[in-house]
Amino acid sequence: MKTDTESRPYRYTGLVDRYRSRLPLAADAKAISLCEGNTPLIRLKHIPRTVGFSGEIYVKYEGLNPTGSFKDRGMTVAVTQAVHAGSHAVICASTGNTSASAAAYAARAGIQAFVLIPDGKVALGKLAQAIAYGATVVQIAGNFDDAMELVKELGKTEPVTIVNSINPYRLQGQKTAAFEIIEALGRPPDYHCLPVGNAGNITAHWIGYSEASGSGTDACVFCNNECTFTQHATSWHPPKMVGYQAAGSAPFMRGKKVTNPETVATAIRIGDPQSWKPAWTVQRESEGWFDECTDERILATQRLLASREGVFCEPASAASLAGALRDIQRGRIQQGSVVVCTLTGNGLKDPDVILKDGAPELIKVPAERAVVEKLLAAKLDA
Ligand code: F0G
Repeated sequence: MKTDTESRPYRYTGLVDRYRSRLPLAADAKAISLCEGNTPLIRLKHIPRTVGFSGEIYVKYEGLNPTGSFKDRGMTVAVTQAVHAGSHAVICASTGNTSASAAAYAARAGIQAFVLIPDGKVALGKLAQAIAYGATVVQIAGNFDDAMELVKELGKTEPVTIVNSINPYRLQGQKTAAFEIIEALGRPPDYHCLPVGNAGNITAHWIGYSEASGSGTDACVFCNNECTFTQHATSWHPPKMVGYQAAGSAPFMRGKKVTNPETVATAIRIGDPQSWKPAWTVQRESEGWFDECTDERILATQRLLASREGVFCEPASAASLAGALRDIQRGRIQQGSVVVCTLTGNGLKDPDVILKDGAPELIKVPAERAVVEKLLAAKLDA
């Protein structure tokens, strides 16, 4: 007889359960999960036409993870491992999303979280999250890079596990986004575009694509074990990995650290990327490139995506699509190709940005049918 659980329909329980055989976790490590991952890959309908693109553009909407960003993929694995290893506290430096995610997974695990954030440069929604999840929030008089240095120092002496992307379990979790994309498309895309800060995520995706296209003997993650990755992989080319930075915060373009990074995309306001070396390897191996986008272009793309496609991401996330659209127009991304842009975080985290600059005046009228009717008529006729 089937047990109660067996007779239930399939229930997604998070990416550690889903991809366990591809993660370096002990068999008895108990997953600390909030059902992260399994995010939608949405095909854009209108925007490709506006730039005359004959290929397909998809956005991987990581803003639909439990704390609203891709960080949850890495955090479930990092915190699972930390707890398995006996840790009672995690610590991170953050521009906002890592702190929200670390705080949530620590709460779930019943351990403490310490988060160091740059004073005044974290989007309100992210700060509210870290507080709500019960983390100890420390605003430091400095930027992300300063906070990161402090965390690395503290990690040497204090009984805390660092859960920034220098923790290798983070990248292992984040690589699963590449698996999901392959699952959804049935193959890797031709180009994969991401916003770049520390460059952990672009590195993690490359690990995922490389494993999926490599000589894996593990069971296939998307064919119910009836085939293997190797069989699929025979005709696969991993994508060219393309990383976009904000122009005021673009160390990969300058070829060196940026000491005072500035951008409206506060999530990627980072001048000293922690995955500097691996990211250059990704660029070389995948035959991809780095480029930069101005804040104006990033914000315009954020609005375009929301208003034309119904997908609301935070400013940093829009850098991926902003850069891709420009590189399509420049011919650097080839016509007819399949492009995936990662939308790393949810737009709701940073509503100020939308309400501040260039937002239309709110229409205020008396609560009278005739007045509103006239307004509708004017708009409908326009
Ligand atoms: N997009 C968003 C929304 C982010 O929060 C980050 C990084 C990135 C892109 C860049 O990813 O660092 O792997 O290249 N946010 C970190 C944080 C720094 O503290 O939340 P990366």
